[in-house]
Amino acid sequence: MLFGTQRLNDKGHLEVGGCDTVELAERFGTPAYILDEALLRKNCQEYLRSFRSRYAATDIAYAGKAFLTMAMCRIIEQEGLYLDCASAGEIYTALKAGFPASRIFHHGNCKTIDELRMSIENQIHRIVVDNLTELEILNTVAIEQKRKAEILFRVAPGVDPHTHRLIRTGQQDTKFGFNIKSGQAINAVRKALDMPGINLKGIHCHVGSQLLDTDAHIGAIDVMVGFGREILDETGYLIEEINTGGGLGIPYTNDQAPPGIDRFADDIVGALSKALDTHGFPKPRLIQEPGRSIVGTAGITLYRVGAVKQVPILEPPGYRTYVIVDGGLSDNPRPLLYDAAYTALIANRADVPPTQTVTIAGKHCETDTLIQKAKLPDVRPGDVLAVLCTGAYNYSMASNYNRFARPPVILVMDGTADVIAQRETLDDLVSHDVIPERLK
Ligand code: LLP
Repeated sequence: MLFGTQRLNDKGHLEVGGCDTVELAERFGTPAYILDEALLRKNCQEYLRSFRSRYAATDIAYAGKAFLTMAMCRIIEQEGLYLDCASAGEIYTALKAGFPASRIFHHGNCKTIDELRMSIENQIHRIVVDNLTELEILNTVAIEQKRKAEILFRVAPGVDPHTHRLIRTGQQDTKFGFNIKSGQAINAVRKALDMPGINLKGIHCHVGSQLLDTDAHIGAIDVMVGFGREILDETGYLIEEINTGGGLGIPYTNDQAPPGIDRFADDIVGALSKALDTHGFPKPRLIQEPGRSIVGTAGITLYRVGAVKQVPILEPPGYRTYVIVDGGLSDNPRPLLYDAAYTALIANRADVPPTQTVTIAGKHCETDTLIQKAKLPDVRPGDVLAVLCTGAYNYSMASNYNRFARPPVILVMDGTADVIAQRETLDDLVSHDVIPERLK
C-alpha cells in the first residue's frame, strides 16, 4: 500500500518526493514528519476538478485543523482553495503567511470576543456561527466596527455517521450548531435576519470525520436543503450557500476502502441535485471542507527503532514482539484517542516481505501503542520505521508530553527536501517557564 510519489528505490529503501527516506532520517533526525507536496497539490486539484466539473458553483475550503503551517497556507492559496480556520491561532498563521482573509472561513463553537473582533477587523470571508450567544456578540462587534458580518449558521442535521464516537458530529445529541428538528435553528435564523450587523449567507454542517461511505452526507444534504426551503417559506429569505463540511476518510489500512475524491463528488453533487429537486430550491453555492482527505495520505512519520523485545504472553501462549520507537503518543495521539489503525514498513528494507506480526510501541511513560498488529520483516534496533498516512491530525495534535520536543515537518518534492516546521529544541521546551522571585 503506497501513496502519491512513494516507491521503493534501487537500494530497497522507501522513497517519497524523490527523496530516500533513510537519508531523510539521517539528515533531519527522527522522529520526523515527511510531507509529499506533489500528492498534496494533486488532492487539492482533484477536489476542485471533481466538484466543479459536476457543479460549477463549488468552492473547496481546506480544513486547517488537519495540518497547518505557513508553508501549507502558501500551497493552499496557490491551489486556489479557501481555508477553514477554527481558532485565532489558525487565522493568525494564515494571515502571517499572506493568505487572503477574503478566503477564510472562521469556525468554532466557543469563539471569544477577541477572535470575533479579529475576524471582523480583517474582513474574514465567512464566520460560521455556532450558537445564540455568539450571534449576539458578533452582531454587537460588527455594529461597533460599522461592518456587516457575513455568516453561515452551523446546524445539526440529526444524522448518525458510521465512525468512531468521538468524531461523530451530525447527530441530534451534539455540542455543535443549532438543532433543526426542535425549531432552535429556525428561531435563530429569525433573530439573525433582524440583526443589523449580520448578513446570513447560508448554512453549514459537518457530520463527522474519517467516513468510509457517504450515507451521512447524503442524509445531511437532504435535511439542509429542506431547512433552506423552510427558511424561505417561513421568512421569505433565500439562503445562497450550503457548506457540507469535511469528513471523507482515507485508507489507513488495507481493509478501509473510502470512495475516491471523484466518487465522493459524484455522491455529494448527486445528493444535492436530488434534494434541490425534491424541495424545489434554487441552486446555492456549494462549499466542501476536506481536511484529512487532502493531507492525510501525503504524510509519513519516520521513527528510529530503539529496541525490540520478546515478551511472553498467555493468550495465545507464545511471545509478543514489541518494536519500540523514538516517538509515540506526543507525535501521534490518534491510536490512544480513537483506536486509530495505521500501516508501517521498515524504510531501509522496504523490499523485504513481512514475516511477522509485531506491536509497535512508543517511548512515553504510557502504554502508547502506535500499531497493535503491524506486519513487518525481521526488525532490528537502528532500523527506520515509516508509519504511513500521518499527514492529518498528527503534527496538528502533537503535544510536549513528557517534555518531548515536537518533530520537524519536511516538505519533499522532486528530490528536494525543505524544513517547513523546525524540530523544537530543549530550549524551546523551557522557553515559557517562569521561576518566580520567591523560588530563586
Ligand atoms: N469542517 C469542520 C467544521 C470540521 O469540524 C472538520 C473536522 C472538518 C471540516 C474536516 O474534516 P475531515 O475532512 O478532516 O474529516 N482529530 C480527529 C478528527 C477531528 C475532526 C474535527 N473536525 C482525528 O484525528 O481523527
